[in-house]
Amino acid sequence: MKVTVLIVCLLSTSLADDPINTRYFPKDFKFGVANAATQIEGGWNEDGKGETIWDYWAHNYPEKITDRSTPDIACDSYHKYKEDVALVKAMGLDYYRLSIAWSRILPTGHPDKINQAGVRYYKNLFAELKEAEVEPMVTLYHWDLPQPLQVEYGGWLNETVVDLFSEYARICFELFKDDVKMWTTINEPKQVCHAGYGTGVYAPGVVSNGIGEYICAKNVILAHAKAYHIYDNEFRATNQGRIAMVIDTTWYEPGSDSEEDQEASERILQFSFGLYANPIFIGDWPKVVIDRVAQRSELEGFTSSRLPVFTDEEIAYVKGTYDYLGLNHYSTNMANATADLPIGNSSYGNDISVLTWRRPEWPRGADNQFAVVPWGLRHLLVWLKKTYGDAEIVITESGLSDTTGIMEDDHRISYYQDYLSACLDAIYEDGVNLSTYTAWSIIDDWEWNAGYTSSLGMYYVNFTDPERTRIPRKSASWFTNMVATRCLVDTCTQ
Ligand code: NOJ
Repeated sequence: MKVTVLIVCLLSTSLADDPINTRYFPKDFKFGVANAATQIEGGWNEDGKGETIWDYWAHNYPEKITDRSTPDIACDSYHKYKEDVALVKAMGLDYYRLSIAWSRILPTGHPDKINQAGVRYYKNLFAELKEAEVEPMVTLYHWDLPQPLQVEYGGWLNETVVDLFSEYARICFELFKDDVKMWTTINEPKQVCHAGYGTGVYAPGVVSNGIGEYICAKNVILAHAKAYHIYDNEFRATNQGRIAMVIDTTWYEPGSDSEEDQEASERILQFSFGLYANPIFIGDWPKVVIDRVAQRSELEGFTSSRLPVFTDEEIAYVKGTYDYLGLNHYSTNMANATADLPIGNSSYGNDISVLTWRRPEWPRGADNQFAVVPWGLRHLLVWLKKTYGDAEIVITESGLSDTTGIMEDDHRISYYQDYLSACLDAIYEDGVNLSTYTAWSIIDDWEWNAGYTSSLGMYYVNFTDPERTRIPRKSASWFTNMVATRCLVDTCTQ
């Protein structure tokens, strides 16, 4: 359950007025920008690409998309990828994070027929990046399940998809072994499972709250682990790259110093982030998740827990399948303890039973989402270090949305300056092993259910212009200068 109560609270946990950190970023710290196939490529059925669950969703349920738009053309990066690479190069970035569309390589999702035109597209893109001396960071799955796998198997609710994903992963490792060294398996499993198979607000729209998302979570984790092992056993020695899952979470700040609120914060973090990270970094689901879902399932009359069990073999198979920790982070909520929500219909939110809210003074992004709370990122980074040890943290996404698309985007500059300052604090003051910051996004894109109404780009794209010209916002030159100077203010110290 997500209860947003706007109350003015006198308790001060905010470090919002933290001064901007004046130290240089460490010499080996890397900067990048991110995007994903569905959101920028377009060419949705071009050159043999198959339909994805998001193509199907936008085509068949236009009412689900704020502006009733589709990703059919998006930024037309399928044709304009050279322009995108030129922008990334001009910004002096180390990484360009992008995703491969499963259905561009394997149109039906099955490993029976490789679509050579799709392969050529990514080969050309990687060649362009090589020429520009920018390293690709490549996501294998950014929410775009081939639609036939949803129809035939029920998508991520079916274990068969674990094998199909790992076959697709093996094909990509083989095809792109000379082009890619930085891999991520699955992007934001919580959105894939909770929004896709729990509340059903995202494609494929399966409503199975408190049941579907846990089945999906297990399959997604096994799929990630299988791809990791294939990479480890068959490709690591020659490719010499790295691979991990990308997990997202909001930071949940305890609403007070009380033990109950501290526990509430920890509980919601474990359900949000730990559900996916614990099996990989520690082994098995978090204990609080196992205990609470089992207890509530029993009270609801289930004969076993709604949370599927990992066998001992599976626990060992999944544990340790990471080369770094990929983190997507945008925003913060406060978390307060509340009485356990009544037993009734099963629900992930009721399993958590935490009251979340945002301080009214926090600036917001589009749709009132994404409260801007830089210290939340620092608290999260410290929590990750405490919870998962010293794994290298790669921030794979962070950024600010708005609905105005304004070109003089000083609010976005402040966001990056403050969030990057929080990164420096975490590195220098808290000893967090943070190596990379990837901004979302370089260009405006198709923002899933928000369509083209939510802008996160440092470059504006006019989606009514057939040329889809990319025009720099003010933040593009600020970010470029920051990357060049490795400093957030006019003068930095070592
Ligand atoms: C996270 C998702 O990975 C990405 O696809 C999305 O566009 C951004 N958040 C911004 O909303």
